[in-house]
Amino acid sequence: MSLFEVKERMDALVKELNQHNYNYYVLAQPTISDYDFDQKLKELEELEKQYPEYQDADSPTQKIGGEITKEFQTVRHKWPMLSLGNTYNEQDLRDFDTRIRKAIGDNFEYVCELKFDGLSMSLTYRDGKLYRAVTRGDGTKGDDVTSNVKTINKIPKKLTGSGYPDEFEIRGEIFMHRAAFERLNQARIDNDEVPYANPRNFAAGTIKLQDSAEVARRPLDCFLYFLYADKNPFKTHWDSIHAVKSWGFHICEHTRLCKNLDEVFDFIHYWDEHREKLSYDIDGIVLKVNSYAQQAELGFTAKSPRWAIAYKYKAEEAETILESVSYQVGRTGAVTPVANLKPVLLAGTTVKRATLHNANEIERLDLYEKDTVTVEKGGEIIPKITGVNTLKRVAGAKKIIYPDTCPECGSNLIRKEGEAAYYCPNDEGCPPQIVGKIQHFISRKAMNIDGLGDETIETFYRNGYIEHISDLYTLYEKQDELRSLNRFGDKSIKNMLDGIEKSKQMPFDKVLFGLGIRYVGETVAKKITAYFKNIDSLMNASFEELTSVDEIGDRIAESLLEYFKDQRHIDQINQLRQAGLQFEVSETETVLVSDKLSGKTFLISGVFERYSRDELTALIEANGGKMLSGISAKLNYLVAGDNMGPSKLEKARKLNIPMISDDDLLSMINQN
Ligand code: IVH
Repeated sequence: MSLFEVKERMDALVKELNQHNYNYYVLAQPTISDYDFDQKLKELEELEKQYPEYQDADSPTQKIGGEITKEFQTVRHKWPMLSLGNTYNEQDLRDFDTRIRKAIGDNFEYVCELKFDGLSMSLTYRDGKLYRAVTRGDGTKGDDVTSNVKTINKIPKKLTGSGYPDEFEIRGEIFMHRAAFERLNQARIDNDEVPYANPRNFAAGTIKLQDSAEVARRPLDCFLYFLYADKNPFKTHWDSIHAVKSWGFHICEHTRLCKNLDEVFDFIHYWDEHREKLSYDIDGIVLKVNSYAQQAELGFTAKSPRWAIAYKYKAEEAETILESVSYQVGRTGAVTPVANLKPVLLAGTTVKRATLHNANEIERLDLYEKDTVTVEKGGEIIPKITGVNTLKRVAGAKKIIYPDTCPECGSNLIRKEGEAAYYCPNDEGCPPQIVGKIQHFISRKAMNIDGLGDETIETFYRNGYIEHISDLYTLYEKQDELRSLNRFGDKSIKNMLDGIEKSKQMPFDKVLFGLGIRYVGETVAKKITAYFKNIDSLMNASFEELTSVDEIGDRIAESLLEYFKDQRHIDQINQLRQAGLQFEVSETETVLVSDKLSGKTFLISGVFERYSRDELTALIEANGGKMLSGISAKLNYLVAGDNMGPSKLEKARKLNIPMISDDDLLSMINQN
């Protein structure tokens, strides 16, 4: 390389790695594997060593990583949150061990821990109570996410046991178990929300939410792995983590004390083989010198401690041939590219397909037909393509080009500003969208129609019996014809018709969710119906009215307005109404338990330790109280939890509105 090329390469690496850091830490949406990232970082480090004169002040080698997001208060860490040196090979561990022996002799132990794949968090406790929770951010300053962290059950708000310092900081990893991830991600897909790629991103995305109530709905866990205190009462890391367990913290049961490197390698090999059996993702193991005195002797480099190192497992990958790319059209019209691969064995299963996410991804990978590609199975459930071996490209191969028309119906695809996916706009005429919408309508979370399944819907559609949701309610007129479709006996037809009949009693929010309006998921449907009470006021609502509802943002409001602008949708709603479906909130939905709060108005703000906001709302309404959507002179009580927004607080104070706690509310209800 000429000097000019060296400088160009270094600049390009700085730019690319900074972008990847931003994708990883801020967007929680990495587009590169950890392994490739680390390789590129190492290449840059090498070049900087050789050509220090070209080192850029903005180089990622000079920063710990991460960046700070805007919406939260920034807090400076008392002890910087360093990263760990890491490696993918065992020789580096031997070198690490040799360095340590040279510095402190042979009399020491290691603590071996799993390297949890989540996001690190620093928790401060004062007088036995959780005082503050801060993300790592850039290592010196992070985001104050206390209100969100308070909703995590696995993190104690009040300590148990004794012997803890008056003030201390404890660090650990917040993560989501795979089972919860799969369940919630499926719900996101069902609700038309962008799914997360893996549990790590889901956890990171959750902690950055502005709405703590939503955080509370997503189960997170946290393993603690480091204690900091001005006067640490313990002499070793091992003793600290066992003490913190008695104070109520969750620590990982697999942590081991190892006398030498052989025991460390046993630990590494064991978990490389068995990590699939854990209920959460790990991406390696962490090795720490046990004694605090020895840790102090070893000290730190600018970025990481000299007494600890991470050994990372390589995500399993394999090379195979890209046969073709298919484009799947979902219920909402989103067109998703899927790579069809020559079958290859990867992490114990045969892989035939890999996700390509969207058009940008195809562009980024620069794919050609018959390309030799690397597939990787990391934390993701569906494998992904991480690279292309261009040296093996077949001469004259055709470039993969994302289509500009719908592969199912031929309509021109559209892309909304700020979104990665292309959509087929022909929602009423494109077969997979029609079938997908009806399947969504009958699904368990929407109308929960017994006796009907996805395949039946497809068969009915293909045979011309249904084309709209409302056609379900005319099926009883076609009973005889249905019987001729030889799959259906009298009994199954009766079950199906009974199920359809019963669905007419489903509450308004289920009907609204069932219509499949983009961005109107289950929770949003509940909020909207509770506010507007019936379909007519909803259809007549302006953008301002829609966005004044708690949790309804611009995107949802626009989607609703667009939906109701379409005459075909209005016709559908009218037909469903005529069929007898519920398009208003029924009076009996909130069963009155008492009228203790009747004539009084309430607003809930902040987070509460024992109740969700939905629970408190239900309690108020069940006792005759009325919820208001904002602070005004009409408001009688503000039920205030922790971490209320400062502007709300100020407004309530100005208007002299009494602020009560959840306990006060309960005593109002329980008094005789
Ligand atoms: S100790 C100064 N222990 O890995 C040492 N970190 O690459 C601080 N991590 O930022 C970290 N499991 O987010 C430690 N058992 C473990 C860990 C762990 C996961 C993460 C943590 C840290 C990153 C360092």
